[in-house]
Amino acid sequence: MRTQVGIIGAGPAGLLLSHLLHLRGISSVVLEKRSRDYVERRVRAGVLEQGTVDTLIEAGVGDRLLREGLPHHGIELRYGGEGHRIAFEKLVPGRAITVYGQQEVVKDLIAARLEAGGDVRFEVEDVAVHSLEDRPYLTFGGERLDCDVIAGCDGFHGVSRPSIPPGVLKTFERDYPFAWLGILAEVAPSSEELIYTRTERGFALHSMRSPTISRFYLQVPPDATVEEWPDERIWTELKARLESVPGFTLTTGEIIEKGVTPMRGFVAEPMQYGRLYLAGDAAHIVPPTGAKGLNLAVADVRVLTEALATFFRDGSTGPLDGYSAACLKRVWRAQHFSWWMTTLLHTFDSDDDYGRRLQLSYLDYVTSSEAAATTLAENYVGLPW
Ligand code: APR
Ligand code: PHB
Repeated sequence: MRTQVGIIGAGPAGLLLSHLLHLRGISSVVLEKRSRDYVERRVRAGVLEQGTVDTLIEAGVGDRLLREGLPHHGIELRYGGEGHRIAFEKLVPGRAITVYGQQEVVKDLIAARLEAGGDVRFEVEDVAVHSLEDRPYLTFGGERLDCDVIAGCDGFHGVSRPSIPPGVLKTFERDYPFAWLGILAEVAPSSEELIYTRTERGFALHSMRSPTISRFYLQVPPDATVEEWPDERIWTELKARLESVPGFTLTTGEIIEKGVTPMRGFVAEPMQYGRLYLAGDAAHIVPPTGAKGLNLAVADVRVLTEALATFFRDGSTGPLDGYSAACLKRVWRAQHFSWWMTTLLHTFDSDDDYGRRLQLSYLDYVTSSEAAATTLAENYVGLPW
């Protein structure tokens, strides 16, 4: 079997790449180890930058996003008993975010791929990468797929990055001394916009998915388990952290999903080796405080699509050779912003009183200086391409 681009992983990166290549007349096959149902149900983040929304609409997969997505023109930073709105409409006019679950993006992309006759294979076993220097091919479940290029879109725990010979990659890591307990609840959101809260008890985030489904996150110890967090304890803690301003009451409801996410920053450089190109979580991970994970995957795929289109049009490898450097500029910007939001809003056991005062003074600055608030806003809605 042969295709132009062999893609490992049917997450947002792999599916969007396959669709954008299709729109350029370039063939691809997507190999995914999980079932379609699993990838469509996997609850992850849900904030789309302006550029991500534009890309999905341009690619013809934005109809449901436009119908069901929630455009937001600001977020709230809540600390010290007060709420402070970061007003995108004032600070970054014309740019906003859209709240739309990652699994909805995945559902829309799978539907578009299959409608276009795309080759997306689920529950594929033992995907392996071969001969990356020249004439690359993939093997899986006893089959062989020859391709001109392989795109490693198989996430942090995939097979593509580890298939790069030792000594080629340089990796950069930052682990945070806490995790996020994330829940999905069948309850109307208690606020119009997202609330990022810093309290002495730890961080909390009020997000949402629809007028009837809310999403919450709590800062918890790094080794926390869902078993340690029965529903009642979760609501008690969310109320303690979010009801920290007068007149705000958190409405509770049935929790339908919960999970613990480790907080880490990770970058692998370069994001390519031979005919293998890494995109999304396969090459980089950000802590979710800046809502950058999904958006970075889309940014990588945009650059890779352009580079592959040039390569398949006239054989020139210039853009492909520059793929990693082009992406890493944006990746490190997002790494810094995500680190900055995380250190601004979480409590660190290692912090002394001096450290906590520095944090509060920085929050005071960000919420009182238009220049500082603009920095947050432009990074949050996404820097233009
Ligand atoms: N063979 C085939 N498929 C694989 C393999 C393998 N060996 N290993 C992993 N996969 C699949 C996973 O099952 C998953 O569906 O690759 C896919 C990778 O998708 P994601 O993890 O969603 O990564 P990506 O597409 O880069 O999207 C990044 O996902 O985790 C969030 O916060 C992150 O929002 C960001 C987004
Ligand atoms: C989410 O809605 O899942 C979400 C929102 C903002 C974040 C992270 C996750 O920073």
